[in-house]
Amino acid sequence: MARLIQPNIKDSMKTISVVISGRGSNLEALLNAVQAGHLKARVARVIANRADAGGLAIAAQHGVPTTVIESKKYQDRAAFDAALAMALDADQPDLIVLAGFMRILGESIVKQFNHRMINIHPALLPSYPGVDTHQRALADGVKWHGCTVHFVTPKVDVGPIIGQSVVPVREGDTEAILAARVLKAEHRLLVDCVRWFCEERLVIKDDKVLLRNAETSFDAYQNPVG
Ligand code: GAR
Repeated sequence: MARLIQPNIKDSMKTISVVISGRGSNLEALLNAVQAGHLKARVARVIANRADAGGLAIAAQHGVPTTVIESKKYQDRAAFDAALAMALDADQPDLIVLAGFMRILGESIVKQFNHRMINIHPALLPSYPGVDTHQRALADGVKWHGCTVHFVTPKVDVGPIIGQSVVPVREGDTEAILAARVLKAEHRLLVDCVRWFCEERLVIKDDKVLLRNAETSFDAYQNPVG
């Protein structure tokens, strides 16, 4: 049976927490969308696991509170995850967005935020999980590459896929050129997927995500090729 994945949400304005490790361009895309009124949500907090994450300054420019939980200061994964879970819980977010978060989370925190935590990955999953996705795609000579937004499960880069965006791989592409093309697609895809979540349009059925439209039928996500 199809199941709505946001069963306990009280009001229409969703609260989002964003977790980052670095530059923060996906975070910026979300904050710009909120500011422009394209995303009806409140970003409650940005949490970084590195003090030098560029996204912290972007959050501050948008007036969003930030918290740094430096993973290198924690003895093990479980201790870091517990600190992160406590910080996230304090804001009671409806949705947690991993936007360039470069750490693996353990089963406990993932289960705690089941169906409330999404991740953006720079490849067309299940192809190229892990790191160096653009380099590996170029080495394989694939003609199409892209990005994926998915619900987070205990398996790394595995989980119900919310949306994907496809870009061509062109002759002469370097890793940097391809990464820039994918990143542009990421920004749009992430905003779309977060909007669908906030509009309560996502339904998980048999570990697959269906997108409801206003008439409660289901659309396939159509994205123009970048
Ligand atoms: C993005 O390309 C994102 O897909 C990737 O890190 C980059 C972060 O950029 N995430 C992962 O690789 C997660 N495994 P940003 O900090 O500018 O958003």
